[in-house]
Amino acid sequence: MKPFRADAPAAARFVMGGVAADHMLPALRTLEPDARACWAYDLDVFEQRARRFLELFAPLRPLAAFALKANALPVLLERARGAGLGADAGSLGELEIAKRAGFAPEQRVLNGNGRTPEEADWVAREGVALVNADSLGELDLLERAAGKASRSIRVALRVNPGIETPGHRYVATGGEDAKFGIAPVEALEAWAGRARWPHLALEGVHVHVGSQIVDVPSLERALEISLELATESAKRGAPLRVVNLGGGFGIDYQGGERGFPLDAWAAKLIARVRGLEFEWLLEPGRWIAAPCGVLLAEVLAVKRRGARRFVVLAAGMNDLIRPALYHASHRIVPIAPREGPHAPAAVVGPVCESSDVFAAEIELPPIETGDVLAILDAGAYGAAMASNYNGRGRLAEVVASEGSLTRARAGETTEDLAARRSNDSLLK
Ligand code: LLP
Repeated sequence: MKPFRADAPAAARFVMGGVAADHMLPALRTLEPDARACWAYDLDVFEQRARRFLELFAPLRPLAAFALKANALPVLLERARGAGLGADAGSLGELEIAKRAGFAPEQRVLNGNGRTPEEADWVAREGVALVNADSLGELDLLERAAGKASRSIRVALRVNPGIETPGHRYVATGGEDAKFGIAPVEALEAWAGRARWPHLALEGVHVHVGSQIVDVPSLERALEISLELATESAKRGAPLRVVNLGGGFGIDYQGGERGFPLDAWAAKLIARVRGLEFEWLLEPGRWIAAPCGVLLAEVLAVKRRGARRFVVLAAGMNDLIRPALYHASHRIVPIAPREGPHAPAAVVGPVCESSDVFAAEIELPPIETGDVLAILDAGAYGAAMASNYNGRGRLAEVVASEGSLTRARAGETTEDLAARRSNDSLLK
């Protein structure tokens, strides 16, 4: 996203979905008078990215299932579906959200490493294109649910290929120490012995080696391992039909060209698998959603201590936890920059934690209380990971498209938080 139009008048410089960002919080305040921060998404950019993604992989005719864990705002999901994406759910809640956003059974995928009987019953009853099983025990669970419902469930085994990806270890999922996936030898045994699970069509391999991956080799190795496993499984009498390559495509949080080279990868992948008769799945989350969203936050205070300048925002780590949790660095910009020299500042939130820091030191122009800063690339793993820590309501989410602005989810009020109690006798 290039939200800046340097030639525009100051008040209209930062535009999303045809709406000037400095109109957003004032507009939201007509419904939520206390709102001093909110999430804002450009639905047009979201849709463009969804279409671009599909276009690049079109020759494979994949089911590209958007990872709801990145952002499950219903209006965004409806755009995803409209563009042709499917839905990748990771829980019972996400399955239900996907269904309500209109995704048909053949567009839905279920992931996760802690399968519950309720999820198994849900997929047996409502249907999905594929369940990615993370353990052999899960197959028994799915078999029971499918048998009970007299249905068949199509299943891929999530294989841990033992690939260490660069980047933060909290988002690496393919290494030996990661909790995810089944060892390749065990997967081969399970495919060969699949008659044990008569209600499962155990015919897929799934790899997802991490998130925010920006280099091709990790995904290339994961692909090669999947193809080798498929070949080996066929030799052992259990040919596979489905290859799910997961997600993980990273973006450049500094706004440059260092994101995952999706065009190059798509071309390489298509050339590599030409002539192979598999059904392909992909599970993109961040690449599609991150650049379409920002966290807008009013400046509550500018505090100077010695030579330091602290800019205190009305949003905190409970809203966007990525900097505190992964040392992620998001660009932060005033939506209507003041004239004047740039100088260092720490941009922090109001939560009582020293890790509640969005940027320890960045260059910012003069900032005053009441200004609004935008934290960029916050459309994925932003609102989705927000909490009520410090008694703070989750923020409203607004969407802009073709010049109109809509509140797509209301912010939680102090009343919502205060009312959240019950007194239901459980044992006496
Ligand atoms: N498929 C599976 C099985 C996944 O676990 C994930 C993400 C995805 C697909 C989508 O990955 P993506 O294309 O978005 O990288 N909260 C972290 C990211 C956690 C990713 C979890 N799994 C962050 O904010 O960086």
